Amino acid sequence: MSYENNARIINDDIFDLVNECFRQEKSAQNINRRVNFFDTYNNYFVLTDDGSYSINSKEINHKVETLHTSTGAISESFEKFIKPMKFDYNKDIAILDICAGLGYNTSAALADFIEKSSKSKLTIDMVEISKATLACGLLVPSPIREHDYTKKAIEDELIKQDYATLSLEKAEIPDNIEINIYIEDARQTVQRLEDNTYDAIFLDPFSQNMAPELFSLEFFKEFRRIIKDDGIVATYTSAAPIRAGFIEADFCIGLGPIFGRKQGGTLASPNQQMLDYALPKNDEIRIALSDVGIPFRDENLNNSSEFILNKRTEERHNARHNTKISSAVKTPIFLGDEMGDEKLKRRVERNLAKMNIPSTTSKEAFYIIECEKNYSEKQDLKNNSRNRILDMKKRLKNVKNGNYLIT
Ligand SMILES: C[S@@+](CC[C@H](N)C(=O)[O-])C[C@H]1O[C@@H](n2cnc3c(N)ncnc32)[C@H](O)[C@@H]1O
Repeated sequence: MSYENNARIINDDIFDLVNECFRQEKSAQNINRRVNFFDTYNNYFVLTDDGSYSINSKEINHKVETLHTSTGAISESFEKFIKPMKFDYNKDIAILDICAGLGYNTSAALADFIEKSSKSKLTIDMVEISKATLACGLLVPSPIREHDYTKKAIEDELIKQDYATLSLEKAEIPDNIEINIYIEDARQTVQRLEDNTYDAIFLDPFSQNMAPELFSLEFFKEFRRIIKDDGIVATYTSAAPIRAGFIEADFCIGLGPIFGRKQGGTLASPNQQMLDYALPKNDEIRIALSDVGIPFRDENLNNSSEFILNKRTEERHNARHNTKISSAVKTPIFLGDEMGDEKLKRRVERNLAKMNIPSTTSKEAFYIIECEKNYSEKQDLKNNSRNRILDMKKRLKNVKNGNYLIT
């Protein structure tokens, strides 16, 4: 049996049990292993608040994450990945589902398409590095009916790859739906995909500290190449380096829905008009002006997570007080503020002085954040997060270099 492209991503115990289940299916041609798996080992699955199941990751960098939010695994797929899309179902639709896992995001897309479209065609390309994780998608109870189609596609692919043996999934995928599955590192897949192909990219990796390689500037440049002009990338994270990466990769950005977290996720599109809501004001300021706005870099799309994390730490260190305001005590968000807390004010102004900004209420401070006067939550072609971030970046550079005129 072939176990390449079966990265040990999920909890070690369930990884071994799942592999053993499919090994025995092959040797004994026995359907009971797979059919009884969930009842036998349901304590390895994590029940989320909407009744759908998740699983735990293996320990990576001393942390364990579940594959989905505890607020509701399948609800998260609808809320974060489907609702912000503006699909025109009169046309054929193509979706790239990166980090497909148990296939919930794909299933939510299928449900939406089946409900709203009659004639057009839907193509979904799922990318997942781990066969065992996809196999778990066959073992969990389907949270919605359309997950049975996803299961069918996963089973067909796992049989083709000699991991599964028996054809137990009976759902027939409708003729106007095509589901392709790539079992490999998504960084390799994207480099082979054609320009201008996707209406949506779902980006659903573990967190940035566990998987920075799936949030890098270079990875996003590939997205920019393969996405259609009106396409939307959706991801659950609100992290500054990720939003900064999208901007550097020439995307417009907007705020994604809030679900199961305090902050909204991130949407990115080549077309500003696809993105209704701006990022929160302080997020824009921190991305533009402080070292948290330095993206992850993975020049040849093949570095390890540790390398990428260390390299960014080094780059942040070098940028601080040089090209970027220190992110310590969230310094840039106080620009323009009369600060009451004297101790905090001293720390903030010490950081600002290193960038030639005399105080939080100096002319230089107001010059840098001038565009924020026009901030509004709704964004348009002129007033939007991308334009403001680029404007503030430019002005900070001017102030640091003494290369500006304040009247
Ligand atoms: C948060 S889970 C995704 C959950 C999934 N979207 C779903 O609907 O069930 C992250 C997934 O990323 C996968 N993964 C990790 N590194 C990857 C890589 N380099 N390329 C593709 N998939 C990867 C993991 O195996 C895991 O299944």
